[in-house]
Amino acid sequence: MVCLGNICRSPIAHGILEKMAQEHGLNWEIDSAGTNGFHNGEHPHPHSISVCAKHGIDISKQVSRKITREDLDHYDQIFCMAREVLVEMEGLFGSAIHQKHIRLLMDVENPGKGEDVPDPWYGPASGFQPVYEQIHRGCKAIIQEQKINTTP
Ligand code: 4NP
Repeated sequence: MVCLGNICRSPIAHGILEKMAQEHGLNWEIDSAGTNGFHNGEHPHPHSISVCAKHGIDISKQVSRKITREDLDHYDQIFCMAREVLVEMEGLFGSAIHQKHIRLLMDVENPGKGEDVPDPWYGPASGFQPVYEQIHRGCKAIIQEQKINTTP
């Protein structure tokens, strides 16, 4: 799960997908990272922590880190929170990002729509609940896609 700072959106996505995977008995390795590294070593934004806690998910121990080239090879799937994040990824890794396993999160639900998860960093606390709900929809679509792909 990738966003810009790895403190607002991608930690929420990391926490939600981890919980959903556990609930579905999927032994997935899930992680999150940011493209800018500005918040390396920091825990998620307090409002990200609290919106997740409200839904029974503890993300308080996550630690922000910058995405690496190794991540692109290591992870089977990489989900970016917004088109802006894909642009940053292209700046970091060039054409390596044009691979099928790197997508916008919301494209899992609506392929090709190009829907962004808006950055709540500059807005009020109330912006984090809709972001949580949107990310939840995206993660649900990942689980559904997995079920379709593994049903004989
Ligand atoms: P995020 O939000 O990408 O959802 O973690 C941001 C947090 C910090 C910054 C940008 C976006 N920043 O530039 O510091």
